[in-house]
Amino acid sequence: MGMHPVCSADAPRSSTRRGGLPAAYVAAGGRAINCKRGVQGAMTRVLDGNAVGQTIREDLETGVETLADAGVTPGLATVLMSDDDASETYVRMKHRACADLGIESIHREIDPTDAPETLFDTVSALNEDSAVNGILVQMPVPDHVDKTRVLRSITPEKDVDAFHPENVGRLVAGDARFKPCTPHGVQQLLAAADVDTSGADAVVVGRSDIVGKPMANLLIQKAVGGNATVTVCHSRTADLASKVGQADIVIAAAGVAELIDGSMLKEGAVVVDVGVNRIEDDSERGYTLVGDVEFESAREKASVITPVPGGVGPMTITMLLYNTIKAAGLQAGVDLPALADLADLEVSA
Ligand code: GUN
Repeated sequence: MGMHPVCSADAPRSSTRRGGLPAAYVAAGGRAINCKRGVQGAMTRVLDGNAVGQTIREDLETGVETLADAGVTPGLATVLMSDDDASETYVRMKHRACADLGIESIHREIDPTDAPETLFDTVSALNEDSAVNGILVQMPVPDHVDKTRVLRSITPEKDVDAFHPENVGRLVAGDARFKPCTPHGVQQLLAAADVDTSGADAVVVGRSDIVGKPMANLLIQKAVGGNATVTVCHSRTADLASKVGQADIVIAAAGVAELIDGSMLKEGAVVVDVGVNRIEDDSERGYTLVGDVEFESAREKASVITPVPGGVGPMTITMLLYNTIKAAGLQAGVDLPALADLADLEVSA
């Protein structure tokens, strides 16, 4: 395959983590990697975000224990001002993951028709609450609430989404306090699969503040897990197919169901699907989840691909837990060596 630096279909190369294979990859014991032969006979690896995320959570558990020894219990607060089903589900999943790891979580629900000040007063109280180390306002908020003001209202030290302009600026400057959870999860997933981003042509499809922009920023950093040449495509991009077709790594984050199919991909591309789109159907649940990538055709061309669900999603939650524990450590002045492997991606390279 026109296989630039990105990845080999064989055994993973040496990595920066734990002096060999990335910890997550090793401990996942192959569960993270499920191979199937594509049309050209090359093996396609399907990455298991649950397995990689679980391995990372083992390190996080050690971090929680270290905090407990210092008398600190990490705390996350979520704020939901929406009736949206998917948002409610995401928030519920975040709380469940916190409980599993020994992170305290509290939830504030605000009627979506309430005045914006109700939300801002809630965030102010959480900013002042010393039991709360991380605050997350689930997006989107209703139209009558100024989203920019919401992002600025969370104190940057508790901004575990990393959406506050101070944290965005620090990320861009290569001095991240927190990395945004989904792009960071993608970066950790690529590292766990031993995908070398350095020198790779990466195409990010989507320019959202939550995924596309920070993803591009992480991939261009002069750091481990960065050093890629990045193109950001969006709804006004002329000839998306030709841009995607040149990519060694495709990050699909447009929020458009099955926008990218196998015919658009370069043979051997690494494909990360961030999309979670609900397609209504007659099933009991009433919908099926599909990504931004048409999985079956893409799998025939890709060397590495993430499924939906079970790819990026679990990694997003894992990195939220990581940011919450990191925030607790920073706020309490407790060093957390168990988190050091995960911070490898912040090292200059
Ligand atoms: N809505 C969709 N993704 C996210 C996320 O990562 N954080 C928040 N706060 N809201 C979201």
